[in-house]
Amino acid sequence: MQARGPLMIEHRLIERMLTAAERQAQRIRETGLADPEAIDLILDFVHTYADRTHHGKEEDILFRDLARKPLSPDDQRVMAELRQEHLDGRQIVRALDGTRERHRRGEAEAAPELATELQALTGFYRKHIAKEDQVFFPAAMAYLSDEEQQAMLAEFWEFDRKMIHAKYKAVIEALQG
Ligand SMILES: [Fe+2]
Ligand SMILES: [Fe+2]
Repeated sequence: MQARGPLMIEHRLIERMLTAAERQAQRIRETGLADPEAIDLILDFVHTYADRTHHGKEEDILFRDLARKPLSPDDQRVMAELRQEHLDGRQIVRALDGTRERHRRGEAEAAPELATELQALTGFYRKHIAKEDQVFFPAAMAYLSDEEQQAMLAEFWEFDRKMIHAKYKAVIEALQG
C-alpha cells in the first residue's frame, strides 16, 4: 500500500460524517431544532478522528517527512496551504464548540448558528480533502521511495494505536475534573 492509502480511506469516513453534518444543518434550518446528541457525536468525531488522528498523521508524519524533501515550489505552496487549512478548520470547530455550549444553556439563537457553522465545516472539509486526494497526495508520493512509504505506514499504525489510549485517558481526566 502507498503511504497515502490509510489517509484516503480516512477521508472516505470523514466524508460520511460530513453528509451527516449536512443533514443535521438541513434539519435545523427546517425545524429550528438541533439534535444535541447528533451534534455531540459529530464534534467528538471531528476532534478525535478527523483532527487528532487524521490531521495528526498528516502533520506529524507526512508533512514532517516531506519538509525534508526538495519539494517543488508548487508542492511547497500547496503543503503550506494544507497546514493553514488545518488551522482554519480548528477555528471553525472551536466556534462550533462554543455554540454547542450556548445551545446547551438554552439560547434560542444558537441553533441557527449551529446550522451555519456545520455548513462552514462541511464546505471546508470537502475542498480540503479534494485538494489532498487529487493534487497533493499524488505529487507527494513521488518524493518517497517504497521503503520510505512502508516506514511511514508503520509509523501511522503506531500513531493510531496510541490514539485510543490517549482519548480515553482524557475522558477519565475530564470525569475526575
Ligand atoms: Fe489535511
Ligand atoms: Fe486529509
